[in-house]
Amino acid sequence: MRANNQIVLSSDHTAIQLRQAIAAHIAAQGWEVVDIGPTSSESTPYPQHGEAAARRVASGDCRFGIILCGTGQGIMMAANKVKGIRCGVCVDTFSARMIRQHNDANMLSIGARVVGEGLALDLVDAFLTAEFEGGRHAPRVEMIGALEG
Ligand code: RB5
Repeated sequence: MRANNQIVLSSDHTAIQLRQAIAAHIAAQGWEVVDIGPTSSESTPYPQHGEAAARRVASGDCRFGIILCGTGQGIMMAANKVKGIRCGVCVDTFSARMIRQHNDANMLSIGARVVGEGLALDLVDAFLTAEFEGGRHAPRVEMIGALEG
């Protein structure tokens, strides 16, 4: 059993179906899913959903966050404004693994208009199964934190 087993999921209106597929996928792996929506397909601004998920991670309530919008870019930019968040957009599994191993990313962002469901689930798996390597990467990650002021 992992110490903090919770993963927060959020998206804007473009990614509801993919977010729900990811929720089912990681729940089947034993993660506790905190899906904070939205559930309606009505247009809704990605910054508020990125921020809401990021605050759950930054507070320590959730171990990781997975967020989605059309490109994954806008919601990632919003999440990264929250102190303590390191979120990357990934379209390849190598990067999804490396942002954990080298950057100690605590959030993953995915573009629902960019990748299909199969690749999205592989990205999630690569992210969640990788571990931060520490060592020479630790002071670099600390330097990112120092930029937050
Ligand atoms: C919504 O149309 C779209 O702008 C949004 O999902 C996202 O791609 C922004 O980065």
